[in-house]
Amino acid sequence: MTSARPETEELVARLSAVEDPALFLPLGTLGTLRSVAPRSEGVALRVALPPAYPDDARALLAERLAAAAGVAVFLELEELDEAGQAALGERLAGGDATEAPDANGTRANPFGQKSSATRVLAISSGKGGVGKSSVTVNLAVALAATGQRVGLLDADIYGFSVPRMLGLSSPPLALGHTLVAPVAHNVRVVSMGLFIDEDRAVAWRGPMLHKALEQFLVDVYWGPLDYLVVDLPPGTGDVPMSIASQLPGAECYVVTTPQPAAQRVAQRAGALAREVRMPVRGVIENMSYFLAPDGTRHEIFGHGGGERLAQSLGVPLLARLPLETAVREGADEGVPAALAAPDGAVAGAFSELAKAVIALGPARVYRRELKVK
Ligand SMILES: Nc1ncnc2c1ncn2[C@@H]1O[C@H](COP(=O)(O)OP(=O)(O)O)[C@@H](O)[C@H]1O
Ligand SMILES: [Mg+2]
Repeated sequence: MTSARPETEELVARLSAVEDPALFLPLGTLGTLRSVAPRSEGVALRVALPPAYPDDARALLAERLAAAAGVAVFLELEELDEAGQAALGERLAGGDATEAPDANGTRANPFGQKSSATRVLAISSGKGGVGKSSVTVNLAVALAATGQRVGLLDADIYGFSVPRMLGLSSPPLALGHTLVAPVAHNVRVVSMGLFIDEDRAVAWRGPMLHKALEQFLVDVYWGPLDYLVVDLPPGTGDVPMSIASQLPGAECYVVTTPQPAAQRVAQRAGALAREVRMPVRGVIENMSYFLAPDGTRHEIFGHGGGERLAQSLGVPLLARLPLETAVREGADEGVPAALAAPDGAVAGAFSELAKAVIALGPARVYRRELKVK
């Protein structure tokens, strides 16, 4: 795009810097801002979008363009044809939209290098029902609320619950061979649940599981991320092994409840994390207490499980999260409690947890096999 007038050039630069809300990169980088034509009462813009581009992203994009233009915007959208979609998909799959797949057509897993700038937080537990998925989704939205770019990988392939908890039902946007992670509450999400019915059982083992997870990382475009939060399946098995090999920088966080029995199973999760050589960074105690309307505090599930587990793992206890109806309601309604009731005790607790995780900083792990000779 060329223009004679410096103020128009400046306007083009501002509009090119607008981040596409569904594709996570500036329009200038994506090449989707097709023309900018100043009018007497504003500016006319043409932007090219994939056909299945989500409606909410469309509205947000229009808002961002209007804010960047500072004048009335007459927005005309054109549809990318199939070749244009495939080309955009390939560019996105390169990781930063500038690299194409290598000569063999193989794509790289953007989180596969230890040098990756994305912190991977693997949330684990020894058994189901302790609130691992609730902690994962609420931590993810709380991190996003601090301005971090957050992705959520639901690696609980058999027992996925993340799409429902985030109110997400649409499949990922397909651009040629690339799938774009959909966004819910500012978190980019991929889950088995986006591809199959909730009632259909997934009966995959070993290699197929590994392949599915690899596709979630390689064939899915996540955009640049500061954090990738991973909902691991409960306990031990193929998935944590696969995650550890595909996400070599993953840090492990163990969710437990206050009673001693839960602590024993969570301890197994800690042992597993060490076995697959993920550094355990902290313990998160869930359902720690219930605050009655009269302000009294009830420790329904006992006391001390999180603290003892943290001690035995030699890591900090990062949070004691309250038991609140809002957590279950938020999960059922698709709006996590950390967002639905921003002034509530739950939101406060998750906001503190997010800050604690950020403050820990990336893990510094030295693995023998990765030493430079
Ligand atoms: N802090 C909490 N307060 C109230 N209900 C909770 C809390 N954490 C989890 N729950 C509820 O407990 C049930 C199990 O939680 P979930 O996150 O699905 O556990 P997991 O992923 O460990 O199986 C869900 O119904 C969820 O809404
Ligand atoms: Mg779960």
